[in-house]
Amino acid sequence: MKPRVTREQLAEYERDGFLVLEKFADPSACDRLRSRAEELVREFDPAGIMSQSINKIGHALHDLDPVFDQFSRLPAIEQLVSDLGIEEPLLVQSMYIFKQPNIGGEVTCHQDATFLYTTPLRMVGLWFALEDAGVENGCLWVIPGGHKLGLKSRFVRAEGGGTRFEVFDDSRWPEEQLEPHEVKKGSLIVLHPLLPHLSRENLSPKSRQAYTLHIMDASVEYPNSNWLQRSPEFPFQGF
Ligand code: FE2
Repeated sequence: MKPRVTREQLAEYERDGFLVLEKFADPSACDRLRSRAEELVREFDPAGIMSQSINKIGHALHDLDPVFDQFSRLPAIEQLVSDLGIEEPLLVQSMYIFKQPNIGGEVTCHQDATFLYTTPLRMVGLWFALEDAGVENGCLWVIPGGHKLGLKSRFVRAEGGGTRFEVFDDSRWPEEQLEPHEVKKGSLIVLHPLLPHLSRENLSPKSRQAYTLHIMDASVEYPNSNWLQRSPEFPFQGF
């Protein structure tokens, strides 16, 4: 298969810590995920009580659900992560984010490596817009080049149960440098694991559904201290 990103785009990713790829996913593939997510919510909550307020579904849809499995393992995605230098890909985590109209909550500025850490850090985050995402309905905001600021914290399993933050740097984010990325349905935003990003609340009447996927390289160490762990019978898998 031919490369999904050009040399220039790779240089851009290195420099900025993110890359916007328009029209990466077919609109019909986006719609399939949206209707499947709706079905899953309905099955989970037949009375419909939570359906309008559910925030997200995580974290193993790509392994547990056939529709998400198929989308997450598209050859185009496999090629893309290979282009980005992930030689032995393992699909670690997925999340379906609803960002419901009028009530979709904000996600404060963070680095994904806080939650999914590897040594060395060889991981990529993929954020698929399943609907048009603009400033009014809570699109992604990023700090370009902010992946060079270093990892601020890790979210780890605490001794004796539960989780805690391990903080390396408690300085504030230079949020004045945040810039919004308004994208059309089907766009993919590739995120470096150290890139600071956020999304604001959705007070508009338009929902802003997105699907995210994190893929690591099997050659690096995935620490036992990461909050997200799989049992030996249910290991991370590749494509
Ligand atoms: Fe994130």
